[in-house]
Formats: sequence, C-alpha cells, structure tokens
Amino acid sequence: MRFTRSSWAALAIGVASLLAAAVAAGLVRSERRQNESIARAMTGGDPARAPALIRRYGCAGCHTIPGIPGGDGQVGASLADLRTRVYIAGVAANAPDNLVQWIVTPQAFSPRTAMPATGITEAEARDVAAYLYAQ
Ligand code: HEC
Repeated sequence: MRFTRSSWAALAIGVASLLAAAVAAGLVRSERRQNESIARAMTGGDPARAPALIRRYGCAGCHTIPGIPGGDGQVGASLADLRTRVYIAGVAANAPDNLVQWIVTPQAFSPRTAMPATGITEAEARDVAAYLYAQ
C-alpha cells in the first residue's frame, strides 16, 4: 500500500485522538482516586467495602446510587453528587458526622421521615458515607 499525504494526515489525526483519549481517561482516573482519598480522610471509612453494605441494607432499593448495579431506587432522592449538597434531607448540614448519623438513625434528625433505620452500624455507615462522598 502506498501512503499518500492524506493517509499520513489521517494516521496523524488517529494517533493524536488516541493520545487525547488516553490523557482524558488518565485524568478521570486520577480525579476519581483523589475524590476517594478525600472521602476516606473526611469519614474514616473505606469506600471499597460500601457496595456490599449498600446491597445488604437495601439503600439502593430506595435510592439511585452511581456504580451500584440495580441501584435505581426512586423512593428517596438520588445520592449522586451528594458531596455537592448543602443539607442532608433538608435538616442537617452536609458534614461527614451528620451523614453517618443520618444513615444510622435518620429519625434522630427527622422523626417523621420515611427513611427507616436499617440496622446498619456506625462503622459500616462510615464506609457507605466514604463511598457516597467519593461519587
Ligand atoms: C425504604 C426506603 C429507604 C431506604 C431503605 C433507605 N433510604 Fe435513605 N432516604 C429515604 C427517603 C424517603 C429519604 C428522604 C428523607 C427525608 O427527606 O426525610 C432518604 C434520605 C436519605 C439521604 C439524604 C438525601 C438527601 O437528598 O439529602 C441519604 C444520604 C440517605 N437517605 C442514605 C441512605 C442509605 C446510605 C441507606 C442504606 C443504609 C438508605 N438511605 C436507605 C428512603 C430510604
């Protein structure tokens, strides 16, 4: 096959777009790692343990939660981008300890809330809080 000027140009464009895609993927990965380490430091929890807990305590049956297969519940609000919210359930400032307490006993903040106390422990709620803040 003979390479014409335009086939070289097409090749160069192809290589450049592969490089751009690789750089973009790397940036997304490093942003995710950074979000995760901030979330660990904020909560003292381990986001890696959260998906199993989210399934066990039924959170995803009521909430849409990114990264959880079948996590498309519509009973409560979506928990995507929780770290950008000002309030938790409109009653508590969005701070790590409040989030953990809300997850364990929402009735402590909001006696008539429809969200049940699921039986999750405080240590487990820290893992789930770390996961939610990392999204
Ligand atoms: C039976 C359904 C149900 C289950 C199970 C449930 N929630 Fe909720 N959740 C709700 C509802 C309803 C609200 C809205 C509460 C309110 O505003 O009073 C809520 C609110 C929240 C909020 C505040 C959201 C916001 O927009 O500020 C968080 C965070 C949360 N839930 C996390 C969890 C986690 C983590 C679990 C699992 C341990 C869980 N929920 C299990 C129904 C549920």
